[in-house]
Amino acid sequence: MAGGVISGNSKAYPGELTWKVFVTCLVAACGGLIFGYDIGISGGVTSMTPFLKEFFPDVYKKESEIKASSNQYCKFNSATLTMFTSSLYLAALLASCVASFVTKACGRKISMLVGGITFCVGALLNGIAVNVWMLIVGRILLGIGIGFANQSVPLYLSEVAPYKWRGACNVLFQLSITVGILVANAVNYGFAQIKGGWGWRLSLGGAIVPAIIFIIGSLTLADTPNSLIQRGKLQEAKERLLKIRGVDNVDEEFNDLVEASEQSKKIKSPWFNLLKRKYRPQVFFAIAIPFFQQLTGMNVFMFYAPVLFKTMGFGDNASLLSALITGAVNTLATIVSILLVDKFGRRFWFLQGGIQMFVMQIVITGAIAFKFGFNGNPGELEKWYSILVVLAICIYIAGFAWSWGPLGWLVPSEIFPLEIRSAAQSVNVSVNMIFTFFIAQIFLQMLCALRFFLFVFFMIWVVLMTIVIYLYLPETKGIPIEEMAGIWKEHWYWKRFVPVADEEMAEVKDTKKDEDKN
Ligand code: BGC
Repeated sequence: MAGGVISGNSKAYPGELTWKVFVTCLVAACGGLIFGYDIGISGGVTSMTPFLKEFFPDVYKKESEIKASSNQYCKFNSATLTMFTSSLYLAALLASCVASFVTKACGRKISMLVGGITFCVGALLNGIAVNVWMLIVGRILLGIGIGFANQSVPLYLSEVAPYKWRGACNVLFQLSITVGILVANAVNYGFAQIKGGWGWRLSLGGAIVPAIIFIIGSLTLADTPNSLIQRGKLQEAKERLLKIRGVDNVDEEFNDLVEASEQSKKIKSPWFNLLKRKYRPQVFFAIAIPFFQQLTGMNVFMFYAPVLFKTMGFGDNASLLSALITGAVNTLATIVSILLVDKFGRRFWFLQGGIQMFVMQIVITGAIAFKFGFNGNPGELEKWYSILVVLAICIYIAGFAWSWGPLGWLVPSEIFPLEIRSAAQSVNVSVNMIFTFFIAQIFLQMLCALRFFLFVFFMIWVVLMTIVIYLYLPETKGIPIEEMAGIWKEHWYWKRFVPVADEEMAEVKDTKKDEDKN
């Protein structure tokens, strides 16, 4: 990379967190809000009796017929009900692939706008739905909105944020996801009290509010200097960079951006590049981190907490209230991560969170096995039992919220070198969406089939992921992104994949030859 003042280990471009950048962070936060609102709203709505009666009468019938004396594990098992929840993630996965082209060719802002508008239409359709297909089409539109937003917002954010603030901005995105989930839980709790049973319309239609904020926010923002440079608008890009950095001279950073853009244009196929042996560690984590994040089982609670609490014999209101409590714990524990992730490092939180989740999974499994056994027949549920279960779930959620939650987005975004960053980030987002979809779609069937063993399934994955982090993830705290390549060269396992300087030169020549041939 050209130019740049070297300070200690890293370059020090001038510029602080200006108002312009702050507004950008708010817009990014709105992107997280719509994602979180969706995660939180569907579980609550699908536990509302009037909603079930109107759209899923079979599930309602089964739920009311199954009395306390029969198998509670299977009372919500319905493929159409899970399709309602999970259709969104499939749509988001496909949309994020399309969005990567739109974002590159037309700029980040256009993708954000497309995301906001599609999401808004989906929310409207859901709010006025009169049949199940209107609901599902609405959710597909929401999913497309989220796919576009999640692809473009983090990119926009990391391109606009001054490098010193990039980490904090990143966890802010997770914080806004958790705030979205919490707001959705509160909205569900409030609207479920409405007499007449149409509160679910307000819950689903309420998604219009974060969508409108997001659309207005996107309209007020200019595109990133990186995107402008990529599209040949050099003068505009320089003016934009001067504005967002709030200083008189941005030459060094601007020259580096131009050079980075030229370098990245030389690579004709970043996707093909991912297959190269030297990128094995990064690609491994681009897949493993989102995969493991979903296999913690966290979304079982995010999507289905009220359903799960109802399964365990809580009443309608108690279920929604408990979901509200778990949502609040999720948000508060994420703040802990913002404050301490740079102090103790990524590995510490991954390992601490993994152990905490594992221990709580044992408690939750034990509690469910003790009362529900294999037949799913709990008999009378005492108060101490309900409190113990909610408490164990809260401690589990806190464990996720200061470890795999934020780190699942932060670590991948800081380990990819520039030449594969955008392609590898797409892999990261896609894997996250595939497994979010997978968990949402099969959880209720798994609960019915595996009973309390379901939690043992997630427990095994938590042990595995904790071991993988312990053995294979080097610490990334406090290392500038451009120097991140060095951590693999020193790692006991990954060093065999990463070429030393001479081999690297030879490889650059080979790549050039390959590309010339093409
Ligand atoms: C995950 C979501 C999850 C949320 C919970 C995010 O990091 O990607 O799947 O629902 O955290 O807070």
